[in-house]
Amino acid sequence: MPGRPLLQIPGPTLVPERIVRAMSQPIIDHRGPKFAALVEECLAGLKSVFQTERGHIVLYPGSGTGAWEAAVVNTLSPGDRVLACVNGHFSSGFAKTAAAYGVECERLEVEYGEGVPADRIEERLWRDEAGEICAVLVVHNETSTGVTSNIPAIRAAIDRARHPALLLVDTVSSLASIDFRLDAWGVDVALTGPQKGLMLPPGMAILAISERAVSASEKAKCPRSYWDWQPVLERNRRGEFPYTPATVLLFGLREAIAMLHEEGLPNVFARHGRLAEACRRAVRAMGLEILCRNPSEHSNTLTAVVMPPGFDSDDFIRHANKRLDMSLGVGLGAVKGKVFRIGHLGSLNELDLLGGLAGVEMMLREFGVPLRLGAGLAAAEEFLLG
Ligand SMILES: Cc1ncc(COP(=O)(O)O)c(C=O)c1O
Repeated sequence: MPGRPLLQIPGPTLVPERIVRAMSQPIIDHRGPKFAALVEECLAGLKSVFQTERGHIVLYPGSGTGAWEAAVVNTLSPGDRVLACVNGHFSSGFAKTAAAYGVECERLEVEYGEGVPADRIEERLWRDEAGEICAVLVVHNETSTGVTSNIPAIRAAIDRARHPALLLVDTVSSLASIDFRLDAWGVDVALTGPQKGLMLPPGMAILAISERAVSASEKAKCPRSYWDWQPVLERNRRGEFPYTPATVLLFGLREAIAMLHEEGLPNVFARHGRLAEACRRAVRAMGLEILCRNPSEHSNTLTAVVMPPGFDSDDFIRHANKRLDMSLGVGLGAVKGKVFRIGHLGSLNELDLLGGLAGVEMMLREFGVPLRLGAGLAAAEEFLLG
């Protein structure tokens, strides 16, 4: 099919030409001086993206799933108890990773479509008089449901309960798209991947960690070798890694950080907010329901749309793929076949979004969902014109 395929999934996102060009370079010696300078720039740049001055960055070749594992094995011991907030497919995965290492996972179950309630965390921590809960696990932006949880409120809840638990936060689909602040929000481990807000191809596990997390890792007894962050921290000080790093991705990362700085992080967040609102208005104007119930928890990186009764979202996505070479996110976990997800994150502008929305509208109509063509697009356009 001529033209470019439309990748409207909530990550991986389109890689801007500028980043592709930055990655098209001869491979350099990963123990040489040029490489040390690159590492230093990437680590400093990532600190600014995680909005931390006191924290440390740790990166590995890997993926977000690997970053879950790194967060768990470096801070916890088998038999430790954690409070895992589960409000979708990915938060469930984070909890399962901890459980796989023998961590006692107490799941705070929340319905799909809702954010993590800070008051329930507070209530549970008050009852933990013996201080058995070592960490609270939360996904900032639950990619399976399009819900953003309020991390500052969760921090405040932990503080009100005067509880020492570490706060481990998955920022895979929020970092560099939705405001996230490691220092100001008192987060101990934030983890992410490169393939969403950072606009890179997949292939890295990225963490930002507090001093408390570093101290916890000195006592943590989960078995670890590859994911042990101590040797990474130590070798990074010399601009090296204890393994062969993903050199090419680091070239891209340096460029991505430069692009984020040029636009300015507040502007990046505002752009995501504006495009997300345009998408939500379009979806409602198509007569469809958004899975996220509370408007203050709407995700600015993706919208999970409830398929009308009698239609299967997997079939719809297959249809859109075949007919228009357009990729939409499938329903995951409890909402498999029931929702489709429109990604609006990374290197995305108004016309990119409108192209995707036009595709959604056309394909829904062709799939048999009754709607007036153009209604969704018009709602988005009205909003974008202000
Ligand atoms: C919130 C969240 N956490 C974790 C993951 C897993 O990351 P990966 O697929 O890079 O292993 C994803 C993937 O989409 C995600 O959206």
